[in-house]
Amino acid sequence: MTHHEDNDTDTEQPAPAIPDETRADGVARVLIPERDIQHEVQAIARELDGEYRDDRPLLIGVLKGAASFLVDVMKHMTIPVEIDFMAISSYGASTTSSGVVRILKDLDQEIVGRRIIIIEDIVDSGLTLQYLLDLLRRREPKDIRVVALLKKNKPNAVDVQVDRVAFEIPDEFVVGYGLDYAEIYRNLPYVAVLDPEVYSEASVKAEPE
Ligand code: IMP
Repeated sequence: MTHHEDNDTDTEQPAPAIPDETRADGVARVLIPERDIQHEVQAIARELDGEYRDDRPLLIGVLKGAASFLVDVMKHMTIPVEIDFMAISSYGASTTSSGVVRILKDLDQEIVGRRIIIIEDIVDSGLTLQYLLDLLRRREPKDIRVVALLKKNKPNAVDVQVDRVAFEIPDEFVVGYGLDYAEIYRNLPYVAVLDPEVYSEASVKAEPE
C-alpha cells in the first residue's frame, strides 16, 4: 500500500496531492477500508459483466454521491456499457430525506426498452430511490436493477427495490467515497464516520435557512 506520507528522502516534503484537511480531519473512524470497497466493486463489475453480456446496459448514477462508485464499477466492467447521470435536489430539511425531489439534470437519452442499472451511493430512508424508480419505470425501460454501495440498517426505511448491496451499515451518518458532509470528504477513498464535533461546530456556525 502506498501513502502520500511514505517519502523517505531528507529533502523538503512535496505538498500532498490532496490537502490534509479534506482527507482525514474530523474523521472519527474508518468504517469500510478502501481495499474492501475495491474488492466489492470488482465483484459487482464481474456479476454485471456476466448478466448483461449482449445487452449494452445503461448505468445511471445520481450526482454527486454515486459518482465514485459508478465510475469504479464501470472501469472494471469489460462488456460494452453506457453511463448517464441525473442530478436531483430534495425538498425539506437537509439531514432527512422527504422523498420529494426536483430534477436538476435529467438523463441525456431515452430509456425505452433499455436495460437500466441504477448505481446508488447509499440507501437511507429509501425515499429518494423510491421516487427515482417510479420516475424511471414510467419511461418503460426493459428492466431496472438497483446496485447500492451502502444500505443503512434502518427498521423504518421504506421497502424499496435494491438488488445488490455492497455493504450494510449501522444507522450512522457516513462520509467518503463520494459521500459528503457539507460538500467535503467526497474524495476519501474509504467510508468513514465523522467526529461528532464536526457537526456541532457546523451547527454553531450554520445560519438557519
Ligand atoms: P434517502 O432518501 O433517505 O434514502 O437518502 C438518500 C440520499 O441521502 C443519499 O443518496 C445521500 O445523498 C444522502 N445520504 C443519506 N445518508 C447519508 C449519509 O450517511 N452520508 C451522506 N449522505 C447521505
